Amino acid sequence: MRKIVAVAVLGLLGALCSCLRAQASDPLDIIRQAAANWTGTLPCGGWDCVCAFKKPRGCCCVTTPLFQLEESTFMQIVGLWKDLQDLTNQIEEVTGGRNVTFAASITPITGCFGPFNRNVSISYNNVSLNQGYGYNPSMGTFTAPYAGLYSFSYTVYSNLGADGERLYHKVQLMKDGQVIASSWEDNREDAEDSATQVVLLHLKKGNQVYIELVLGRFVCGDTQGYNSFSGYLVYPLSDI
Ligand SMILES: *[C@@H]1O[C@H](CO)[C@@H](O)[C@H](O)[C@H]1NC(C)=O
Ligand SMILES: *[C@@H]1O[C@H](CO)[C@@H](O)[C@H](O)[C@H]1NC(C)=O
Ligand SMILES: *[C@@H]1O[C@H](CO)[C@@H](O)[C@H](O)[C@H]1NC(C)=O
Ligand SMILES: *[C@@H]1O[C@H](CO)[C@@H](O)[C@H](O)[C@H]1NC(C)=O
Repeated sequence: MRKIVAVAVLGLLGALCSCLRAQASDPLDIIRQAAANWTGTLPCGGWDCVCAFKKPRGCCCVTTPLFQLEESTFMQIVGLWKDLQDLTNQIEEVTGGRNVTFAASITPITGCFGPFNRNVSISYNNVSLNQGYGYNPSMGTFTAPYAGLYSFSYTVYSNLGADGERLYHKVQLMKDGQVIASSWEDNREDAEDSATQVVLLHLKKGNQVYIELVLGRFVCGDTQGYNSFSGYLVYPLSDI
């Protein structure tokens, strides 16, 4: 009985190395031959000895299950890797989409901006923040890079420097040519005034938002860049 087991074990060892080009003097070849000649039962059950000499994986009784396990583990890892990649892409899409924000003010002026004979968009060209590149400082225009809910705010400030002069400004927040909000002043009592507006807007990709100075009106004496315009994406929407 011990001999049977010993031969079977030797046979298994031989099967693990499946190359068959060895010389007759090779001890491994003798083991292989003995295994091939073996006719008794094997301790681990069935064993197709022919395959040991034809297939490169050998033919231990656990080779096939091991190979199947290896295959299924590999396929699972491939599946997990793909899921992880998808998730990473989704995270980048969401966090990338949320990084849309800008803040800008006008270059300080001692004189006045305006009046003009048409509505003129204001170029807030001193940019302190522009992530997501939605804001074009030379145009003063924000173009929505994604559909979503956006928040915008602007401040209008004018200082005439002396009482009795006419404060006469009106600016309006525009979305693709449509007035969304406005702030204005027309009096001779104040020499200096400011106002701020905040709006929430649903935008589609490509919608443009900007601030206009209304025709005939003017903004003066902003030596500090108080006239400002800012905005950010509150949350993206797949489509609206
Ligand atoms: C295996 O069997 C062949 C004949 O079928 C014989 O020539 C050979 O010596 C045997 N090998 C061993 C190791 O028993
Ligand atoms: C979003 O902005 C933060 C802060 O500036 C930065 O660390 C991050 O890399 C940005 N993410 C993307 C996707 O641009
Ligand atoms: C631009 O604005 C910043 C404040 O955000 C200010 O410190 C700076 O002086 C301004 N630059 C110009 C050229 O007005
Ligand atoms: C300029 O703005 C004013 C005030 O909103 C508006 O009444 C007028 O139609 C605008 N002009 C043009 C050419 O859009």
